[in-house]
Amino acid sequence: QWNMRFADLLHRTGLIAAHRGNRVVAPENTLRAFEASLGVCDFIELDVQLSRDGRVVVMHDETPERTGGEVKDAVCSLAFDALGRLDAGAWFYRDDPFGTVAAGRALPPVPGVPDRIPTLDEVLEFAVRHGMPLNIEIKEMSGWHEAGKVIDAVLEAVECRKALERVLFSSFNHDYMARIKALLPDAAVSLLIEGTHPENLIEYIRQHGAEGYHCDDAGVTEALVHRLREAGIFVGVYTVNDPERSEELFGWGVSAVFTDDPGGVCR
Ligand code: G3P
Ligand code: MG
Repeated sequence: QWNMRFADLLHRTGLIAAHRGNRVVAPENTLRAFEASLGVCDFIELDVQLSRDGRVVVMHDETPERTGGEVKDAVCSLAFDALGRLDAGAWFYRDDPFGTVAAGRALPPVPGVPDRIPTLDEVLEFAVRHGMPLNIEIKEMSGWHEAGKVIDAVLEAVECRKALERVLFSSFNHDYMARIKALLPDAAVSLLIEGTHPENLIEYIRQHGAEGYHCDDAGVTEALVHRLREAGIFVGVYTVNDPERSEELFGWGVSAVFTDDPGGVCR
């Protein structure tokens, strides 16, 4: 039993995060992808959004196109019941995005049991049962839901499962993170960035009360990692599927790499 609190991971380096679960082996952000992450990662990253009726669901894309929904719809505009009917896995077997289906590395679909979009509550129950730390990435939903409503719904799910200590929250919407810290100072939060880094970076991170900073692999330098680590900040880099690159980043002091292939990158 792994049984780690996220606080125990915040000062470690060399961590493997399963990006949307073990998504080379099973469809991303599904319970089977999370189950396939057990034993090959230190924590699991997942993406959450709110349905129109305010339920917290685990899904990356803004529209449900890949899961068989209509391109014109937004996930946030659909009722929970409608999202529950979508097939979260068929596209994976059809498109074989990592070539793992053809190579026989992917888990076969379960006959007659389509993969469903899980609720955050289901994933929290799984995480608590297995002692698995989670990084809950809250997707940008400004066009659909007020920030207060988003944060209340996510925190309620986490607190209901008494899972706060097992979780690191993150978002590209840094206001969401500041709100979480204002409500729950004990929560661990990370700011997500793609591309350009904010000016006065360390100060910016501190102003938001964040423990961590997650940036894309193309935008990270050794000097940046040193600066962040010297300031005691948890540094995550996404998405890294090459074991040599992950070793290089760990050599720089990176705390965690987010990988689609935790079984392949894992030492
Ligand atoms: O949390 C790291 C990474 O997942 C952010 O980008 O688009 O894969 O959610 P995305
Ligand atoms: Mg994500």
